[in-house]
Amino acid sequence: MGGAGLQSAFRLFHHQGVAPAVIGVGGGPMTPAVSTAWQSLARAAEAGRATPLRDRFATDPGRFARLSIAWNDWLLDFSKQRVDPNSMTLLHELWRAAEVPAWIARMRAGEDINHTEGRAALHIALRHPAGKGPLLHHGQDVMPAVHAELEKMRTFCAAIHGRHWRGTTGEPISDIVNIGIGGSDLGPRMATQALAAFHQPGLRVHYVANLDGADLATTLAALQPRTTLFVIASKTFTTQETMQNAASARHWLVQALGEAAVARHFVAVSTNLAEVARFGIDPANAFAFWDWVGGRYSLWSVIGLPLALAVGYENFQRLLAGAHAMDEHFFSAPPAENLPGTMALLEIWNSNFLGADNRALLPYSQSLGLLPRYLQQLEMESNGKPVNRQGEALAYSVAPILWGEPGTNGQHAFYQLIHQGGRLVPCEFIACKQPDFDLPGHHEKLLANCFAQGEALMRGRTLAETTAELLAGGMAADKAAALAPYRSFAGNQPSTTLLLPRLDPHTLGALLALYEHKVFVESIIWNINPFDQWGVEYGKQLANRLLPIIEGKAAASGLDSSTAGLIAACKGSAP
Ligand code: F6P
Repeated sequence: MGGAGLQSAFRLFHHQGVAPAVIGVGGGPMTPAVSTAWQSLARAAEAGRATPLRDRFATDPGRFARLSIAWNDWLLDFSKQRVDPNSMTLLHELWRAAEVPAWIARMRAGEDINHTEGRAALHIALRHPAGKGPLLHHGQDVMPAVHAELEKMRTFCAAIHGRHWRGTTGEPISDIVNIGIGGSDLGPRMATQALAAFHQPGLRVHYVANLDGADLATTLAALQPRTTLFVIASKTFTTQETMQNAASARHWLVQALGEAAVARHFVAVSTNLAEVARFGIDPANAFAFWDWVGGRYSLWSVIGLPLALAVGYENFQRLLAGAHAMDEHFFSAPPAENLPGTMALLEIWNSNFLGADNRALLPYSQSLGLLPRYLQQLEMESNGKPVNRQGEALAYSVAPILWGEPGTNGQHAFYQLIHQGGRLVPCEFIACKQPDFDLPGHHEKLLANCFAQGEALMRGRTLAETTAELLAGGMAADKAAALAPYRSFAGNQPSTTLLLPRLDPHTLGALLALYEHKVFVESIIWNINPFDQWGVEYGKQLANRLLPIIEGKAAASGLDSSTAGLIAACKGSAP
């Protein structure tokens, strides 16, 4: 049975508690599927299948204490996952068999662990505090350059917030528009929303990403060129969407204020300073980062400029400090206490041993509303790969589909399927002990809903329980018997709850670093490179081929009938 067939077989049998006999295994010396730990885990998954979560809780009052981790004032409760101390021990063996500590050391040493692009992945340097020693890249300490750019950013934020930076007409800046996409958009956009409680007064920060002109047009409709500053954010400074939006924004500004206004109304964030200059942005107004910073790991660099403008540079620094605290935890904690490590191992357990093909991310925090979208890039662009580090086809699944919405909204949309739809959907709840906006009566209800969902998913409700409940409520026996099947729940749906103290810059920084390291650990165990993204390139290549045809500058030759038909329909001609 192939990977896809295997997955659907697992899905099919999920609620019946029956498992297909095989777990996908493959050859190759580095393949985790042939390690002893992997084989033992497959047997443990098989053995545990008959015991639903509610029974595990009933027979072990110490389950929560055994299967949860406290770190500072955080709590990771994974007792509602379908694991037990034995499977966790085996997962820790898998961590050791995959040599996770040695890979962490390679990352910290600035080795080119992104081997297909010949690059390091040294984003940890971006939040490494001054005075804490060097971090080397190809033998050179990167910290002086990192801190020089941060200093430049601090000065710029002070000039904008202090109203010293003026537009070309002498007025202060009231609106920042960040133009970027993917890693040059999702991180700062998500964090700007997440830290709404910390926004600086008098400055609005907007984000434009989509090539669809509706994004830029609707944003600009409410703005004045005189008081608007654009941040053009692109690691490569060649991305089609960003370059088109930047050109249109430039046109909008120049039409109103003339060519000379560009210098006071455009700044750039990039690794490609030559292209920045070619666009016409003053090099003095360009903020730099380096090719050892992956796009989806770049929030901590000057890509965070719009966020620093939104929340103030001191809060941006607190974000960096939070991320660094998580780095230190990740580097030093043993697997049994390691938050990113544990979350990675649980994902591997769910997807490779229980057959889950997805994970629902459910933050009970409106402020974290964009976190699922941000993590979609971080997790799926990183680990959605077809071959291992040796270039061999993978014989096991990687990177489950990540999806989600903040609670409680999702409860009134897709939770029905999670409860009764018969699919295995591991859920990840995130909640904060304290609200970031404290309106009386809200937060307690939010927490009650979050914990109730985890409880309901775990426990379910049997036919007998449902019938008894209906009878106790006064329903006639025949009606209760008829309705009970509809109102029963299989339960046994695994979930994790991550409980944070309060959503502030430090906590957010640590949370995002946690997910970065989770992705890294998974990639190590799956033996894949999480830092390249070749899959995205092919679509870009084909779009560039179709553009001249759609523009009417080239003939439509060599196209399949569907693509040719779609283009013809747009142009109102025959294919
Ligand atoms: O989506 C592909 C990608 O290359 C991402 O990895 C990156 O974050 C995004 O495009 C934007 O790239 P750039 O910052 O170079 O414009």
